[in-house]
Amino acid sequence: MPKWSLVQRLLQVRLSTCLFITLCLIAVIQFFASYGYYKYEHLAQESLRHHLYVQHNPKLITKKSKPDCRYNDILQNSKSVHSWDIPRKFNDFLPNGIINGSYTPEDCTPLFSVAILVTYRNRQSQLDIFIPYMHSFLKKQNIHYKIYVIEQQDERLWNKGLLYNIGAKQAMLDKFPCLILHDVDLLPLDESNLYVCLKQPRHMSASIDKFRFVLIYKSLVGGVLAITSDQYKELNGFSNRFQGWGGEDDDFAGRISKHNLEILRFPPHMSSYTMLLHKQEHKNDDRHRIMEENEHNSQKDGLNSIRYRVSNIKTHRLFTMIKVRL
Ligand code: BGC
Repeated sequence: MPKWSLVQRLLQVRLSTCLFITLCLIAVIQFFASYGYYKYEHLAQESLRHHLYVQHNPKLITKKSKPDCRYNDILQNSKSVHSWDIPRKFNDFLPNGIINGSYTPEDCTPLFSVAILVTYRNRQSQLDIFIPYMHSFLKKQNIHYKIYVIEQQDERLWNKGLLYNIGAKQAMLDKFPCLILHDVDLLPLDESNLYVCLKQPRHMSASIDKFRFVLIYKSLVGGVLAITSDQYKELNGFSNRFQGWGGEDDDFAGRISKHNLEILRFPPHMSSYTMLLHKQEHKNDDRHRIMEENEHNSQKDGLNSIRYRVSNIKTHRLFTMIKVRL
């Protein structure tokens, strides 16, 4: 009996040791497999200000008596928020200075005007976190910005590309020179992540906790992307053909490279985001086929070919809501 239990014990030790070694091996392999992407190609921190696309909205009323806002300190002072510190309830959020989802710094003249476009359907609990969090984050950035939420109201398949085109059209009518296309479930974690356009398209969410802060592929532009309104027009926006989840951003990346534009990124610590939890949407099984078909189609399918009905544009204090039926 005692002999048997010794064998048993030895076997147990061996088994757990084997399991431990296997897990370590998997971790090491995974680390090396993704190492290149942790260290994705990005702009050097010292050079960031040379890449900024300095342009404010011509409609913005500025006072000569106010000095220009400064951005160097924001870009240099990395201050990270932990995802677990993000408030899930915002009872004490003060909307001071925000009108119709828009804010302008009080003490200085902003050099940037940015339209934040958020495509949306059935994610009320995420919107309730996103809106106050983003205002608290953006108000510290010395920029003029406005948040637009574009809601798909019908029961048809989700069409994010078309919703972005609708939001971009409105933001351009409102004369915004820079668009930031933003998923509602992503929250920036570092205060040095300045929410402005660069002279080239900028993929902002390169380092997301859900993906273990790894850039999952080099041409990824999904999540959060900043692009000037002129470039968006030049690319003819997004394809309107992607229905369901996925693909429209990869197609957009194709348009970017066809127009010889380059996707730029800030360093990883400045590009970190947390993703709010949600159920995975139904994937569009046709996305690869549509992408292939779209190869030579971008001039006919996009910003210039959108069909929809705006059921209403409503200005809330914290955002402008564009409700559409496709
Ligand atoms: C999809 C993209 C998505 C990416 C990351 C790809 O398979 O086509 O739309 O952004 O995965 O989730």
